[in-house]
Parts: sequence; structure tokens; C-alpha cells
Amino acid sequence: MENIIQVTVIDREGVEHHLDAPTDMAMNMMEVCKSYELPVEGICGGMALCASCHMYVLSDHHLTEASDDEENMLDQAFFVKSNSRLGCQIKITKAIQGLKVQLAPVDGD
Ligand code: FES
Repeated sequence: MENIIQVTVIDREGVEHHLDAPTDMAMNMMEVCKSYELPVEGICGGMALCASCHMYVLSDHHLTEASDDEENMLDQAFFVKSNSRLGCQIKITKAIQGLKVQLAPVDGD
């Protein structure tokens, strides 16, 4: 299908999920994870204000740079690594076909 890409999400138990994501619905990785009922809360609705969609990018895709809002939010998040991103800021486009991410632990895990 033309408007579907495949992405892989590793959940907090280490289980890999292979997801189909539509490129024509203005979705982001947080929303795709939620639509598959993966444990991503997305409390702020994708405004880069909560970090509940924190994930690590494992594949070497070239993603668009984090905005100042995203950087500020990651500064306050727990368990941040150099490959940390907010899932809600990763747009579903053809450029991320094959993206692989891992959900970051939540506080208290
Ligand atoms: S959903 Fe809140 S920062 Fe991504």
C-alpha cells in the first residue's frame, strides 16, 4: 500500500511490535503507538509538553531536528539518552520507513 510505512516499536518488556503507519493522516509516532494500544500516554496530546511519549531512536534514520520545545521537555525528562526523542514530534512520513524505536521507561519503573 502506497500510504503505509512500517515501523518497529520495542515496548518496556522488550517485545518488538511491527506496526503499519499511514503517511497521509498527519499522525506522529505517539499517536501510532496509542492506536496499537502500546503504553504511550501522550498526556499533552502531542504538544511537546509532557514527555510521556519519550522514546529512543534505535535505527539511524535522519529525523528532523528537535525543536526548542522538544529539547526543553527532554531536559526535564527522566532516563534521557543521546537518542531520546518525543514520539509526538516524529511525524509519520515516508522518510521514516523502517524506523525502530524503544519506549523509554516511565518514572518509577
Ligand atoms: S505527547 Fe506530550 S510530549 Fe509528546
